[in-house]
Order: sequence, then structure tokens, then C-alpha cells
Amino acid sequence: MQSTRRKLVVEGGESIVDFDIKAFKPIPQAGIDLAVQAMQAGVMYRYQPKTNVASITANFEKAFAEHMGVKHAVGTNSCGSAMFIALNIADVQPGDKILTNAFTFHAVPSVIEHARAVPVLVESNREWGMDAEDLDRKATESGAKVLLMSYMRGHVPDMDAVMAVVKKHDLMFIEDCAHAYETNWNGQRLGTFGEIGCFSTQSSKGLSAGEGGLFITNNDEYAAKAVLYAGSYERLWKKHFDLDHDMMNMLQNQIPGYSMRMQEVTAAMLTPQIARLAEIKAVHVANWNLLHSLIADHPNIEIPPALPQVDSFCDTMQFHLVGLSREDADRFIDVAKQEGVPMQIFGVDRNARDFRQWEYVEAHKDELKETIANIEFAVDLSLQPHLTQDNIRTLAQVLTEVLAYVNGE
Ligand SMILES: Cc1ncc(COP(=O)(O)O)c(C=O)c1O
Repeated sequence: MQSTRRKLVVEGGESIVDFDIKAFKPIPQAGIDLAVQAMQAGVMYRYQPKTNVASITANFEKAFAEHMGVKHAVGTNSCGSAMFIALNIADVQPGDKILTNAFTFHAVPSVIEHARAVPVLVESNREWGMDAEDLDRKATESGAKVLLMSYMRGHVPDMDAVMAVVKKHDLMFIEDCAHAYETNWNGQRLGTFGEIGCFSTQSSKGLSAGEGGLFITNNDEYAAKAVLYAGSYERLWKKHFDLDHDMMNMLQNQIPGYSMRMQEVTAAMLTPQIARLAEIKAVHVANWNLLHSLIADHPNIEIPPALPQVDSFCDTMQFHLVGLSREDADRFIDVAKQEGVPMQIFGVDRNARDFRQWEYVEAHKDELKETIANIEFAVDLSLQPHLTQDNIRTLAQVLTEVLAYVNGE
């Protein structure tokens, strides 16, 4: 076919991408001001303020709990810490089996390893959610009592089917919502299906502060324990809102403190971001839909539809490359990167989202055929909210042109 497209960088042309697709959200000025005030006053430690009312972290926790419609939120220094605390609350013992996704980021199996437990990896389906049938099978085979389920890249499985398995096996259900801010199943927020929901505030996430995490629950005892595990000692728990003081007095010295607290500066950066989540989601959804409309019909691109019950945050897009050899898929990534569109394929060497890279996990890796098929040619694209609709059109043009190049057109 005669090519009419512009010359790509690899052909001696120039990139048309004049934006940084990988840039993260800046901190809103109100968050910067609050953080600077805390730093200028030398009050960075969350328990330094005299009362809960004066604590930026305590107020941020309260606001996030209200936002999520739950009783308690506890700030931590990462989502990994929140999940580790959750496994401790689940009374996980060394050698216990924990059901989790084969398709997720390595932070998740790492937390299970941190608790000296053993991940049982559950298959994913074509749209990258956990496969409820395999979950049922693995729950039966392993006898595991805990499910740590990740909504990797915001992909949501059939929650009715998952909840039926949770009920059938009486599993303690912990949700990893690092990628699932503002995400609903049939109108219910993810993070409120299980006993405990865990969120990340690392830079690429919906709430973004460099590092940080949140633990949410409706269970008073779990909240009390989370505060203590995170590193509240003596009677510092008085500087939280909504804790049962009798329970705190009782648990006070029974629970070790792992020094996983959130700090005031982190909470300050995050405080004004909660109210902006809906606005940011609207940008993500508009951009995602536009990009979808521009590339979904391409013969080399397959974007599996989410289930109709799912309402996602849409801050990233994944698509399967179809009809390309491994070599051509790698060339697609390489040429797109030279155009200024860095992307990753999940199922390639050194990607921490490919379970075959997790050498510390021994479990049945060669059996996870579905997940291997679902990550082998799965491209991962970050769509942060600074991208304009024009940027999205440019992105679609570049993807289409690079595919044409790879196809020799
Ligand atoms: C799916 C998933 N879960 C959990 C985490 C852990 O988050 P954190 O870095 O806050 O510990 C990450 C980190 O990116 C992640 O991608």
C-alpha cells in the first residue's frame, strides 16, 4: 500500500507529541500552602498537634471516610503498609495461603511475602479482572481463608460472582483499590465490598502525594487495630476521630506498632484533592471515551469492554495488540516511545506486573495460562488528567501511524 502518512522519528521525521504523557498531577496550591505551614511550624509528625481537630492527618482521614461513606479511614505511609496491616488484622500466620490476583503489581504478592504467607495466584479474564470460577476452585483447593483482591488498572471482575465465592468460603475479603478510586459496581464504591479497603496515594494514583496510603473499614475493631499497627502508641490514638476508647484501652498494648503512619505533610498535600476527585474522573472518562472512539476499531487493537455494572475512574487504558508477532509488538513499543509515547506490554521481561517475574513466589506459575494469554500482548497506557482532548487526538494519530509503520504500510 502506498503510504501517505507523515514520516516517523525512526524514518527521520519529527515527533508531533509536545506533551509529557507520563507527567503526574501537581499538588493543588491549597495543599502546598497547608504543607508549607506544617513545615514552617515544624509540625510534620501526625501526633504533634495537641488534638485531633488540629491534626491535618486526622481531618484528612475523617474527610476520606466521609467521602467513601465508611466509618473509618486510617492514613498510612503506603498502600503496601495498609494491606500489610490488613493481613495482620486477618491474623495471617507464616505459611498461611492468601488468594490474590495473578495479574497485579508486584507490591501485592510482596505484602503477602512480608507477612510470611503464601500467595495463591488466581487467573484473570480477558478484561483483566479476577476470574471468579478460578477463585472458587483455588479457594477449595487451597483452603485459604483470606482474599486480597486487586482491581489492577481499575479492572473490575463480576463482583456479584466474586462476593458469592467470598460468602461460600467465608473468606476475609481485603480490597486493593490502589487503582480503583471513584470506581463503582452497580453504584456501590469499590473498597466497601470487603472488610477492609486499601488505597495508595503514590504519585500516579487518583490521590497523589509521592507516597502514602489509606485503610478504610466499617469495623470498629479493625480500625482500632489499624491505628495501633500503623504506630500509634501510649494514648496518641486520642488524636484520631471516631475510635472506641474502651476498645483502644483494651488493645493498646496487645498490638505491635509497625511505624507505618501517614505524616502531616502528606495529608496536607492530599487534603484538597478529595473534593477534586469527581472533576478529575470526568476528565479521565471524557479522554478515555475519546481515545476509545478513535482506536477501538483498528484491526490490531482489541479493547475488551468493561461489564455494564462497572463505572471506572478511567485513568489508564489497556488494549490487546492482535495480529502482531512478538517482534512487531516490541517494535510498536519501541517506535511509539521514539515518538514520545512510552507504553509497556505487561507480559514482557522485567515488567513487575508479570507474575513470572516474581521469583519469590513459587506458586504454580506455568498453570496460569489465561493470565499469560491476557498479558502477553497487553499494552498499558497512562492517561493522566493534564491531557487535553487535542492531546488524545494526537495520541490516537501516533498509535495508528506507528501500527501502520509496523505493518509495513
Ligand atoms: C495494584 C497496586 N496495588 C498496590 C500498590 C502499592 O501501592 P504503594 O506504592 O502505595 O504501596 C500498587 C503500587 O503501584 C499497585 O499498583
